Amino acid sequence: NNHKSDSRGALIVLEGLDRSGKTSQSSRLLSYLEGLNHSVESWRFPDRNTGVGQMISSYLANESQLDDHTIHLLFSANRWEKRSLMETKLRSGTTLIVDRYSFSGVAFSSAKGLDIEWCKAPEIGLLAPDLVLYLDIPPEKAAERGGYGGERYEQLEFQRKVAHSYQILRDASWKTVDAGLPLDDVEKQLREMVLDCVTTCQKGKVLSKLWS
Ligand code: TYD
Repeated sequence: NNHKSDSRGALIVLEGLDRSGKTSQSSRLLSYLEGLNHSVESWRFPDRNTGVGQMISSYLANESQLDDHTIHLLFSANRWEKRSLMETKLRSGTTLIVDRYSFSGVAFSSAKGLDIEWCKAPEIGLLAPDLVLYLDIPPEKAAERGGYGGERYEQLEFQRKVAHSYQILRDASWKTVDAGLPLDDVEKQLREMVLDCVTTCQKGKVLSKLWS
């Protein structure tokens, strides 16, 4: 329909294992959409700039210890801190390319053995993405890329478990791209999916909530 008020930016989430190339691809997508004169921002979770984000950052660097449930809730709180700004941006027509979101929250915590439904609960009511792009890479191949920065979760054995959790989480709406391909090929595929989503949201699409 053509009610101008329904027009909004798209919430696009990139998910995948550590070293799957999410960060490179989000900056490429940002440049691409900027080049087309779209209003767009690139975000990431955890957002290490907030108070909660600093607690998360020190946990990831192994500088502090937290119970698995506690850190899970902090990651979730870190998304809740940004929820209203996120909604404002989207409604004002800005597209957000988000590097990790609730799916990382659930995949990483459930990989530690926490109950998946328990993990999902604090995410209920956050904004649902319009598009989830999964950068698919075998854990072994991601590990070969090197550059695991030595943070808490950057170990092959754990990444294998995370890959398994993502398998359980992903549904038919996710778009999967082979992240083992050269960067340019991955980008080409992502561009098309992203543009399609941005156009749909521009025309008007209801903003919904997790998990639905
Ligand atoms: P990220 O900042 O993307 O990693 P990097 O600094 O290497 O770019 O994420 C840090 C780690 O936090 C990553 O291993 C995934 C994990 N994580 C969770 O466990 N739960 C979450 O909710 C999020 C967003 C990330």
